[in-house]
Amino acid sequence: MNIKQLLSTMSLKEKIFQLEQFNSVLLKQLEGWDATGPMKDLKLTEEDLKLTGTVLNSMGAERMKDIQTEFLEKNEKKIPLAFMHDVIHGYRTIYPINLGLACSFDLDLICDCAEMAATEAVLDGVNVTFAPMVDLARDARWGRVMETSGEDPYLNSLIAKSTVEGFKKGGIATCVKHFAAYGGALAGKDYAEVDMSEHTLREYYLPAYKAAIDAGVDMVMPSFNVLNGIPATGNTWLLQDVLRGEWGFDGVVISDYGAVWELIIHGYAKDEKDAAHKALQAGVDVEMCSTMYAQNLEKLLQEGEITEEQIDNAVLRVLNLKEKMGLFENPYQLTDEKKAKEIILCDKHRNIARKAVEESAVLLKNDGVLPLPRTTKSVAVIGPHGDTGHVLGWWLCGGLAEETVTICDGLRSYDKGLNVRYAKGCEIGWNVTDESGIAEAVEFAKDSEAVVLCLGEKEEESGESNSKTNLDLPEVQYKLLEAVLSVNQNVVVLLFTGRPLAITRLHKLAPAILNVWWPGTECGNAVARLLFGDVVPSGKLTMTFPYSSGQCPIYYNHCLTGRPSPYGRFDITHATRYIDTPNEPLYPFGYGLSYTQFSYSQVELSTDEMSRGGKIKARVTVTNSGKYKAKEIVQLYIRDVIGSCVRPVKELKGFEKIELNVGESKQVVFTITEDMLAFYGAGMERVAESGKFYVFIGGNSETENYKEFQLI
Ligand code: GLC
Repeated sequence: MNIKQLLSTMSLKEKIFQLEQFNSVLLKQLEGWDATGPMKDLKLTEEDLKLTGTVLNSMGAERMKDIQTEFLEKNEKKIPLAFMHDVIHGYRTIYPINLGLACSFDLDLICDCAEMAATEAVLDGVNVTFAPMVDLARDARWGRVMETSGEDPYLNSLIAKSTVEGFKKGGIATCVKHFAAYGGALAGKDYAEVDMSEHTLREYYLPAYKAAIDAGVDMVMPSFNVLNGIPATGNTWLLQDVLRGEWGFDGVVISDYGAVWELIIHGYAKDEKDAAHKALQAGVDVEMCSTMYAQNLEKLLQEGEITEEQIDNAVLRVLNLKEKMGLFENPYQLTDEKKAKEIILCDKHRNIARKAVEESAVLLKNDGVLPLPRTTKSVAVIGPHGDTGHVLGWWLCGGLAEETVTICDGLRSYDKGLNVRYAKGCEIGWNVTDESGIAEAVEFAKDSEAVVLCLGEKEEESGESNSKTNLDLPEVQYKLLEAVLSVNQNVVVLLFTGRPLAITRLHKLAPAILNVWWPGTECGNAVARLLFGDVVPSGKLTMTFPYSSGQCPIYYNHCLTGRPSPYGRFDITHATRYIDTPNEPLYPFGYGLSYTQFSYSQVELSTDEMSRGGKIKARVTVTNSGKYKAKEIVQLYIRDVIGSCVRPVKELKGFEKIELNVGESKQVVFTITEDMLAFYGAGMERVAESGKFYVFIGGNSETENYKEFQLI
């Protein structure tokens, strides 16, 4: 029977429940399920539950098979469940958070990581991942920056594409989120309203969603936030005009958790029936974890507010997705408990995860302490993150701390002869003040050749609903650092964080800072190799680190203003500036140090005029002028000097990751095309406007190595 025939046999209630998604525990009525928020007043019966279309938040091959088997025994039309889960940066083998992995600028590695995660997830019974998350992030106060790829639309789009491709190779269906502009939340507060021009929306925030759709993503999840006055979950312009009309997306649109019900809380729907009506009209096919559809669609139909065709179209999209995933032929799809046990956390996967940590780490400062000499005999590891597997990040999915290589374990297995001593020093947390552990840490630091001091955030200080206003480290961590430095100058700070931090004071005090983000399962093995120089750090930031929290939102691709500091029209006081803080960030987009040094020749252009449809070659020679073979991410930026909308001071338009031996030079050539110059101008058409352009090539977004050309 084909899908349309199946639809014709379904009752209205069967159709409506195909559009509901509940937490899988509901189907098992397992204890411990505390229905909260929109689920707390569930008016669902056993009869209802056996009609459910999809479930979320369950894992485990045996359990999934068990749920599916029991469900199909009860479901008269034998329409299998689809199992969905947040496989964001790993399933059981966890790799660095997205904001860290993006710093590798390695699209193949990103694809491999996604494929690895998908392979593990589908063997364990997951059919769909609520990923990639491609929201553009400019405000580090927002906790969910950890699952973004940062502040650049071009890079975010490439990463979105690579991630979808990787998930597909691994056999899992995908859901791009959160559509749209969730990262633009007011004051960095999660779920807060988003208000921006259509120019900003289309120029910066929409490209990565479009890239995911062009890469073949299966589903789209609207965001919790209001966008220009209308909640995304009820935003017809967004979900119909843009998503389906302009972009031609014909897959499933699934709400975020309870977001249909939240249309009432927003003050957009007057009651539950209105919420169901507005969401369906806007184009939400599946309602996640609230029951507005289940309780109101039939009434809306009877009152002529909606048509059965609208319901049918939504149901068809869900059934088509299940058909595409092969669930009708085999409701267990790729679930295989035996293979899952062999593949999950296998050496190949651990190696991918370890490589991801090595390529994601960003060296923020190094006075010469790093790399640690191979002759080092004793290391004091200090700080809670030094001896725990809780370094997986907020979206740890099936990752387990006990399956994670700690910093201490990694150092010990790296060098059996290394004397590694551990002291906690202090607890980690924005509100921790207890200094009682510092004395023991100082004793260990005093007697060790080197100190690895683990500072930063707690895992749960970033991620969903974890926004914060103070992005510096708490005082107790500075007290610990200063106490350790008073007895040992050979200190490397390992920074564990889910967001850019305003660590200007740390930058002044610490001899060396290696940012490892939330590194994941292979933390200790990768960090040991980085600390001793087996791997030279090459990561480059994809989100600006502010000099102080008050600068947020801060990002590299800003406009110049009519009074750029310090060249204010009248004098330095009448310029774009703060009276108490520099304009510049602590670390800019694209920044990351190495154990070696790279020098760049002047930019050369094949011509200083580009005709319409023409191309220009831009080239530099990069030389490894230091003492270590290492990788460098060469970055191409373009500035459109004059536009019908003012243009950013720089925009990333290309990058190439190269590896150079000591003393080796390599010519790096970028091809500049007219399309790279196009933008949404005053007329809201995406075109390249004639005029002057600058081409920058360097090692970060503050490079001033540029040449000029004209587009005629
Ligand atoms: C959460 C998140 C979303 C996630 C969904 C299901 O609230 O906003 O990213 O996919 O619920 O867990």
